[in-house]
Amino acid sequence: MCCRNGSTTWLTGLPCSGKSTIAYGVEEALAGARLKVEVLDGDVVRSEFFPELGFSEVDRRANIARIARLALMLARNGATVVVPVIAPYANSRGAARALHEVAGIAFSEVFVYAPLDVCMARDVKGLYARYASGEVKGLTGLDSPYESPSAAELRLDTHLESIDRCVSAVCRLVRDRT
Ligand SMILES: Nc1ncnc2c1ncn2[C@@H]1O[C@H](COP(=O)(O)OP(=O)(O)OP(=O)(O)O)[C@@H](O)[C@H]1O
Ligand SMILES: [Mg+2]
Repeated sequence: MCCRNGSTTWLTGLPCSGKSTIAYGVEEALAGARLKVEVLDGDVVRSEFFPELGFSEVDRRANIARIARLALMLARNGATVVVPVIAPYANSRGAARALHEVAGIAFSEVFVYAPLDVCMARDVKGLYARYASGEVKGLTGLDSPYESPSAAELRLDTHLESIDRCVSAVCRLVRDRT
């Protein structure tokens, strides 16, 4: 029995750039479009599937590689997979893309961008404040690297565009690539 392929859309960007907000907006917007949407949010996947992984480079790379495999498994069974995960390393994101392309599954990268000072001011989870007080170390974009995508399918400037416009742009991309 065969099944229509889905796709994976990876939303990468700094903490508080807007990845989760946009991903859940896309899930809601596509719910009525006969697409089976799965959001693999970094926080949820880490705590529910890989609680043993920390934030060293090795663990971050393992996290990205495992999420990529999970996304592929879902996408090749017809799911429209949206992955709001920082994924700071360009070659780890490249490996996720290659994994999908070898399997013939569409993979798109969305660069969810806002300047660091905007992300710090948003501070949704209080992480930047905890970094400032010395309670947290290894925060992406501060003392842990973030390698911006050079050839993402889409870039969203979330300090300039509304949430609705960002969600619509990702929905268009998903529809075009599925
Ligand atoms: N255009 C926009 N797109 C997305 N979020 C926006 C936009 N404009 C403002 N925001 C706000 O920015 C914040 C983004 O928080 P969100 O949790 O989505 O970030 P995140 O990238 O998932 O962070 P983390 O990596 O820590 O999970 C929210 O408070 C959201 O309302
Ligand atoms: Mg998030």
